[in-house]
Amino acid sequence: MKSRVVGLVTRWYLARAQRKGFDLSKVALLPEAALMPLKRDGLDPVPELGEARSTEPVSKINIPFGVNVWLVTGHAEAKTVLGNAKGYSNDFANLVGEHGASESHSPGGLGFADPPEHTRLRKLLTPEFTMRRLSRLTPGIKAIIEQRLDAMAAADGPVDLVEEFALPIPSLVICELLGVPYEDRGDFQRLSMARFDLFGGATASLGAISESLQYLLGVVKKQRDDPGDGLLGMIIKEHGDQVEDIELAGLADGVLTGGFETTASMLALGALVLLQDKDSFKLIHDDDATVHDFVEELLRYLTVVQVAFPRFAREDMTVAGKQITKGDVVVVSLSGADRDPTLGPDLERVDPTRPATQHLAFGYGVHRCIGAELARMELRAAYPALVRRFPSMRLADEDLNFRKVSIVYGLDRLPVLLD
Ligand code: HEM
Repeated sequence: MKSRVVGLVTRWYLARAQRKGFDLSKVALLPEAALMPLKRDGLDPVPELGEARSTEPVSKINIPFGVNVWLVTGHAEAKTVLGNAKGYSNDFANLVGEHGASESHSPGGLGFADPPEHTRLRKLLTPEFTMRRLSRLTPGIKAIIEQRLDAMAAADGPVDLVEEFALPIPSLVICELLGVPYEDRGDFQRLSMARFDLFGGATASLGAISESLQYLLGVVKKQRDDPGDGLLGMIIKEHGDQVEDIELAGLADGVLTGGFETTASMLALGALVLLQDKDSFKLIHDDDATVHDFVEELLRYLTVVQVAFPRFAREDMTVAGKQITKGDVVVVSLSGADRDPTLGPDLERVDPTRPATQHLAFGYGVHRCIGAELARMELRAAYPALVRRFPSMRLADEDLNFRKVSIVYGLDRLPVLLD
């Protein structure tokens, strides 16, 4: 279990920690109680999470190395914490007792940066994620999905939806977004998969991160010489003199980290919901108007990013009657918050007609997911295309391999029969 936890923590902190020269073994000793919000029973959070929410929406986790850790499971309490960027820091330096602004200027660390650095970095990216800019990706997203469906249709026997559908779609969409040229996409795919193995395995090759940064640095250098219309080219054209190549590579890496495994997990687990719930399948198959609500409800129900990045209290505060002290670590369970009964009845099941407008699947506050609209575009296009192409699709194997303990919940494979 210990090596598993090292792997988990490492995945999120490695790049940051390495830059700061931290000893990661210090954070490797998390007890079972701290892992509870990362565990599930099939698609559902474990019952202990709901129990914690109903009795203590902010509860203390006992961990061995002299830091107070709080688990937030209530929806209102989650918004209170995530919405208070002044009161809480995202900077990992806090965990090992270092304070002050980060000296790192890599936008790859957007999720670990605090304002004003966070504000500066996020401003570089925001224009690339407006609906107007994103709409240029619509034809490419459709074409990527159709190509994957064609490849699946051509295969003999069972097809693994994770390998053939859920993983390649977001990886290729990120190529489109960044402006990675077609001839480089094979390498990009290979590297994203290496990153995925890293996310999936306990102690898989950590070299994948530095390899992908090196590779992305090469992509950036090419764009510097000949900037295209993708995200990297546009930033080079508009702010080229304000950003270094390594910053841009970090930015691309952050987009890959934020947008790949998350969207892939939504595609795989959402497909599973469709396979298990015939009513939803029929609804999405027959009626375009239902897709929007269905996707929001799936985002809520699955909440694949189970916990937000840890927040570090900068001052003493009271939340839900609990005294949080400066330096305490606060872990917000997004999957707990999204099933809080204050949001409505019967949240333990998927209801594709439910207006799930208040979910926190993309987080909340200044760190709210910058790629939320892009993810929605992919999901809204992919699910109907899948069920319409393969209306008789069914599970080939009921024995499903869910991730045991992982920040982004997911499935390792999803074998289906298509006709
Ligand atoms: C369904 C898919 C996705 C889900 C569920 C998701 C979820 C999240 C969540 C919960 C956060 C906030 C974490 C926190 O506050 O601690 C976040 C942040 C982020 N996401 Fe996403 N995400 C998805 C897709 C994407 C995509 C497609 C991209 C980019 C192409 C992306 C890029 C990012 C980045 C860069 C951040 C950091 C933002 C910041 O700190 O300001 N995500 N995401």
